[in-house]
Amino acid sequence: MTKMKKVVVIGGTGLIGSKAVKLLQDAGHEAVAASSSNGINAYTGEGLADALAGADAVIDVSNMMSFDKAVIADFFGTSSRNLTSAERAAGVRHHVVLSIVNADQLSANPYMAGKLAQEEAVATSGQAFTIVRATQFHEFTETLVDAYSADGAVKVPDIDFQPIAANDVAAALVEAALGEPKNGFVDLAGPERGPFGSFIRTYLDAKSDVRPVNADAAVEYFGAPVVAGSLVPGGDYIKGAITVAEWLKA
Ligand SMILES: NC(=O)c1ccc[n+]([C@@H]2O[C@H](COP(=O)([O-])OP(=O)(O)OC[C@H]3O[C@@H](n4cnc5c(N)ncnc54)[C@H](OP(=O)(O)O)[C@@H]3O)[C@@H](O)[C@H]2O)c1
Repeated sequence: MTKMKKVVVIGGTGLIGSKAVKLLQDAGHEAVAASSSNGINAYTGEGLADALAGADAVIDVSNMMSFDKAVIADFFGTSSRNLTSAERAAGVRHHVVLSIVNADQLSANPYMAGKLAQEEAVATSGQAFTIVRATQFHEFTETLVDAYSADGAVKVPDIDFQPIAANDVAAALVEAALGEPKNGFVDLAGPERGPFGSFIRTYLDAKSDVRPVNADAAVEYFGAPVVAGSLVPGGDYIKGAITVAEWLKA
């Protein structure tokens, strides 16, 4: 029988975090849903020592939105330094953080630069870690559609896309956290790879949105120039199970 473990999920009330907390609890583990609104703040350090006492692992899926590169980098970098240092003090075995596939190649995008600061803080912390880099979530598609909409059409980058369901991401993070630290990176992507525009077309069709979707090689990814493979894993990766059609149906 698997030994019951305590896992602290930083951002445990968010999209991915709440799913990870439920998966851990369903498997008989103790899961702490940590977030700033419940007094556990990775950025300020508030509540961390108490929350981490007796924990085996931490999954960091906290998030913040800003268009200011310095603000995002400060949030992710400071939070990761606070977390890993509190984990070392508490004797936590493993730190798992969720980043984004190819974040290092997309750092002209301020958010990706922030994720790089997060990765860097974790990798240099001295704490045992696994950095899981996922592709874009199915749940993120509406944001993409909004961002690329103009003049009655949706103009998207002419690149490959391989989105993944939040449920698959949460499951992979839980498995990673309960396993051994890689002290390195693991890529994670959905089960289907294809043109970015095809996924957007499928999504719009499901919403009965008839706007044309046009792929254009000049279109960037939120300020970052892209090539065909910019948003998909370049090597081995963990493959999620939930297809776009299954996700849309659910
Ligand atoms: N969207 C994508 O396609 C995609 C792809 C790959 C990776 N990711 C990564 O996935 C991660 C999770 O995203 P998500 O959509 O699940 O986020 P989300 O739904 O926005 O949830 C964010 C969580 O972070 C918590 N939080 C914010 N500031 C905090 C702080 N200072 N201390 C502790 N908790 C804090 C929030 O709770 P409070 O507000 O109560 O603090 C909330 O629980 C992000 O790091 C993102 O970079 C996203």
